[in-house]
Amino acid sequence: MRDGQPHAIYLKDYQAPDYLIEHTTLDVDLGEDETRVRASIRFNANPEGKGKRELTLDGGKDLDTRSIAIDGRKLSHNEYKIEGETLTLFEVPEQFVLETEVLIKPQDNMALSGLYKSGDMFCTQCEAEGFRHITWYLDRPDVLSEFETTITADKSAYPVLLSNGNAVAREDLGDRHRVTWHDPFLKPAYLYALVAGDLEHIEDHFVTMSGRRVTLQIFTEAHNIDKVDFAMESLKTSMRWDEEVYGREYDLDIFMIVAVDSFNMGAMENKGLNIFNTSCVLAHPETTTDAAFQRVESVVAHEYFHNWSGNRVTCRDWFQLSLKEGFTVLRDQQFSCDQWSPSVCRIEQVQMLRSAQFPEDAGPMAHPIRPPSFIEINNFYTATVYEKGAEVVGMLATLLGPDAFRRGTDLYFDRHDGQAVTTEDFVQAMIDASGADLDQFQTWYHQAGTPEIEAKGHYDAVAKTYTLTLRQATPPTPGQSEKKPLHMPITLGLVGECGSDLVFDIEGCSAREIKGPDGYSRVLELRESEQVFVLTGVTSKPIPSVARHFSAPVKWIIDYSLEDLAFLSRHDSDGFNRWEAGQRLAIHLIDALERGNDGVSCDEASAMFLSVMTHHLKEALNVADSDVDGAGLAYNLSLPGLAFLGELRAEINVDSLVKARNAVKRMVADRCFDELSAVLEAALSDDSFAMTAEAVGRRALVNVCLDYLLASQRDEAVAIAERVYRGADNMTLWAGALRAVVGSELPSAPAARAWMLEDFYARGQKDALVMDLWFSIQAASGREGAVERVKALMAHPDYTLKNPNRMRSVIGAFAGQNVSGFHESTGAGYSLLADTIIELDRFNPQMAARMLGPLTRWRKYGAARGGLMKAALEKIQAQAERSPDVFEVVGKSLSDA
Ligand code: PHE
Ligand code: ZN
Repeated sequence: MRDGQPHAIYLKDYQAPDYLIEHTTLDVDLGEDETRVRASIRFNANPEGKGKRELTLDGGKDLDTRSIAIDGRKLSHNEYKIEGETLTLFEVPEQFVLETEVLIKPQDNMALSGLYKSGDMFCTQCEAEGFRHITWYLDRPDVLSEFETTITADKSAYPVLLSNGNAVAREDLGDRHRVTWHDPFLKPAYLYALVAGDLEHIEDHFVTMSGRRVTLQIFTEAHNIDKVDFAMESLKTSMRWDEEVYGREYDLDIFMIVAVDSFNMGAMENKGLNIFNTSCVLAHPETTTDAAFQRVESVVAHEYFHNWSGNRVTCRDWFQLSLKEGFTVLRDQQFSCDQWSPSVCRIEQVQMLRSAQFPEDAGPMAHPIRPPSFIEINNFYTATVYEKGAEVVGMLATLLGPDAFRRGTDLYFDRHDGQAVTTEDFVQAMIDASGADLDQFQTWYHQAGTPEIEAKGHYDAVAKTYTLTLRQATPPTPGQSEKKPLHMPITLGLVGECGSDLVFDIEGCSAREIKGPDGYSRVLELRESEQVFVLTGVTSKPIPSVARHFSAPVKWIIDYSLEDLAFLSRHDSDGFNRWEAGQRLAIHLIDALERGNDGVSCDEASAMFLSVMTHHLKEALNVADSDVDGAGLAYNLSLPGLAFLGELRAEINVDSLVKARNAVKRMVADRCFDELSAVLEAALSDDSFAMTAEAVGRRALVNVCLDYLLASQRDEAVAIAERVYRGADNMTLWAGALRAVVGSELPSAPAARAWMLEDFYARGQKDALVMDLWFSIQAASGREGAVERVKALMAHPDYTLKNPNRMRSVIGAFAGQNVSGFHESTGAGYSLLADTIIELDRFNPQMAARMLGPLTRWRKYGAARGGLMKAALEKIQAQAERSPDVFEVVGKSLSDA
């Protein structure tokens, strides 16, 4: 594809394959110089195909083809054609066995797609289109085959040889050995996996609901074997949860996870043999922050849940990616909410949505959760497909209610087991199981952009009614100027004067009720551009609590008074909306400061905001007696992030925005210094490390307090951070203290920074993920001189572009989190990113294209910065050798559409 213009493919052009594959036998002989792959593939004409007897297979330029035979007869050169990345067989029978032999060089594969080496081990990554780099194949998800794999390799370098399914034969060949694996479940090639290495493993087992005993194994290199117990626990918890909540039982006798250092993404759900980025499976108190522990738990669950949502029922084509990803993300989110505090989980999900998905949906790469076209599918593993996709399935669950939703998922799994299906099939199962009218709801699958909803309310004290008017509109996105109104659930509560929820009715509609121990909500269904809901039986003047638990992925415009927000932040029965009210207050204040509004409104907003912060700090001082847990309070105390704040503005002025947010942070730090220190002291514990909600909450409070204290003007804060660091026995506090000190401008910060960085670096020498953190904390620091610091980090001997985790820890942290550094006014940050992307694109196009994200929104940064960002994109575009991945993102970013 590097020659000529890459072209788009369209969903509307989908055609069923002319051939299906019944059986695939692979014989993989692994070598240091070359690897020999012999494939024997049994093809049958597809009754649903168009009857063509010419067959084109997918491959890569990296396949060195040695022989091609059909039904045992070697083909001569005029019977086939290899052109670019395809192999065409001119005339094939209705049924035949194709035998091919190719040589590949996994050791040179730096794109990390197909068969490659991660350190000393061999591993594979086949989603989306990696299998074609292993052998010629019909590499598309609607072709499902049985697989048998024989792996031969050096016995001492690769004592462990793994593939999908069950090991059915082993053979000792002296210096080498051979293992054969058979997977009885039909699967598309993207779920294929192979691993060979010198690995250790831990083993456990799980007894399924029907009483079958499943062996569970987690493999890592020897130096990491002490860090996989938590993942094993998470796996067992996930397996039980999926039985209890979705009625899904595991199907093979063995389930394996392998940890690899070099991996483009988080992890991969290969049938029976999940392959994980070490960052998503290793966990140990001394190397792993609480957030990373929780990520391990949720990714283990996510990949395990794919066994049903993705593997047993898979996607017809890659346009349907959200069918498996959106649904599986929702499942892992529900799982996490069941393990920890549901409102804290929801806050984290929404922060992610707002900081990553909303910007994407408002930029040049905006696409519906089911895109109509793409150039490179790897560019569509996006926050939209994943996170917004999860929101869309989550809205179905809210609209239908838990029982009907479960009937729908049961029907979906039952009806489509073993099939490759579409998002329409999913929604149809929901309709058939519930009788709900979801025609209009389907629009969520093909309309891009984040809807904006304006809410206006009016209380009539005489009639005891509250009238709520909702007006929705979705801004245009590239290629979609006209937008339709969407159907969505709005979970609404009314908070009465004394702070508790009012019970109410709705005129002319039967909105589902949600009753909690001290909460009352109803699920309104919004369908029109403008819709009026008359709530009756409202006994006193309420404050509306709109979209509890963030019931729809939209932006809200609600004209709350400062008093309303302060009230809600204390009393709303919905933990998410309590946090949300505080965020709105903070946004209000930051906006006022940035606009340089008259002193009065700034003073008023500051006073109100400080009173709310003081309230939360009081609660936090006695977290054991508060009804909010520590993690929830830590979020209530945190300011909205720069990414989300930027998203709320038509044009982002980096300087004034950063300045305004910093001013609020410093104000809280200075005015509440004593309260913050007191909360910190109270939350520091002498107990040894525990991974419980209570302990996680306390550490979260320590870190949020440190973050403020080090932004104050009192130098003694540095000593507090040093004491926390010295007294800690876990990575959450070490990283929290280091981050706060690295970002601090206080006079004694440089000295503290020096010894802490040195100490942290020493820890990192024993653990690559700690070293990643050492890099990322520095790359994300917004202190003066960021570009030079990042350049120095990139020149560090422990830095490499070749390992995606290390690359992301510097480039990703710098361009994604370091707003003031990356947007440094000379444009030096943009040039640094552009040059790095150009280099990265020579060997790992997927990663190169992902790193483009921060540049794509150049139009939002005003003429000066926007122009420099655009120039950086143009420099990348001018490269002769750019991948289709980069071509697509840069092209869309620069186009006028
Ligand atoms: N399918 C993986 C997941 O979401 C993600 C992935 C995609 C991994 C492509 C590697 C390559 O669970
Ligand atoms: Zn997934």
